[in-house]
Amino acid sequence: MTASIPRFGIWALVSGATGSLFHPDEPPDATWERNKRLVLEAETLGYDTTLVAQHLFHVRDETLDQLETWTSCAAIKPRLFHPAVLAKMATQIEEISHGRFAINLVNAWYKPEFERAGIPFSEHDARYDYGREWITLVRALIAGERVEFKGAHFTIDGYQLRPTGRYRPRPIIYAGGESVQARDLAADTADVWFINGQPTENVRALIADTAARPRRGPKLRYGLSAFVIARPTDAEAQEEHARILDIARQDAPLRDRQMANTDPKAVMFHTFARLPKHVGSNGGTAAGLVGSYDTVAARILQFHALGIETFMLQFQPFEAEMRRFADEVRPRVQRLSVAAA
Ligand SMILES: Cc1cc2nc3c(=O)[nH]c(=O)nc-3n(C[C@H](O)[C@H](O)[C@H](O)COP(=O)(O)O)c2cc1C
Repeated sequence: MTASIPRFGIWALVSGATGSLFHPDEPPDATWERNKRLVLEAETLGYDTTLVAQHLFHVRDETLDQLETWTSCAAIKPRLFHPAVLAKMATQIEEISHGRFAINLVNAWYKPEFERAGIPFSEHDARYDYGREWITLVRALIAGERVEFKGAHFTIDGYQLRPTGRYRPRPIIYAGGESVQARDLAADTADVWFINGQPTENVRALIADTAARPRRGPKLRYGLSAFVIARPTDAEAQEEHARILDIARQDAPLRDRQMANTDPKAVMFHTFARLPKHVGSNGGTAAGLVGSYDTVAARILQFHALGIETFMLQFQPFEAEMRRFADEVRPRVQRLSVAAA
């Protein structure tokens, strides 16, 4: 069952901005100071969680700053860390944060991060095979299990980590990715599957598909990425969307460069190409959280009814719009949720 009130999180600004890099009110700023301020303010405003995306370069413009994820903590690509080392770091951050840490498993799409460091960037389905072995080990190790394992990629001979389980059985595992391989892997090994921002009918079909895949243990839960533009009226929100889309035309050459460096088999980019013009990463405004405060709150409730529990949000300019959402949209969502209960 879905939690009765939606949870909201924010994408940290490890790439400096989530919409256009040319927005006049938000020049890219990926400093640690800004990110720390942002996440602490989000917590004060009542947001429940934060997603720290993982890239080693800025995927649109390599001359721009990009914060490292694991030390800023933590989405994770299997190839970059041995599972035993990663599991040990995860259990330590779980201790430091008193049980507030989560891993987001992503099986990579941006080739230069790997290739230019000489790290193998294998073919799409092979990356998922590797990821499956990797997350199976990490999942057991962060739960404090004793692990004996011999697979195609790893051999672990009697590993057991301590301390574990002080605050809960283990950190939560999220997983992103839209291919059939990603859905199988999420159904089989994750606690929460992250869906890219797209209309409710797509999300309904994706949830139905993934929920039908083989799984052991408690039901898979669902999260949605979305870029929010909320204003007093629908017309004002649509006007702002058109304005940011116009500003984002300047990002086109950078996006073309990014696509040239992207694995053509990464399914999520085929989805984005079919969606209407949108701003923000991972589907962004295509989730339809663009409208009056009432419209956005009602759409959130529609997604929630489909099973979306956590909304991982983007804004631009980030701080001002994040505050507006906390002041205007979230109370409406809470009122609607209580009324519907
Ligand atoms: C909410 C969300 C967050 C993601 N974060 C990252 C990330 O930090 N780094 C990354 O390389 N990919 C990230 N991804 C991308 C996917 O995990 C995956 O690599 C991509 O969709 C390509 O795989 P596919 O062919 O299964 O779609 C994210 C996806 C979602 C939905």
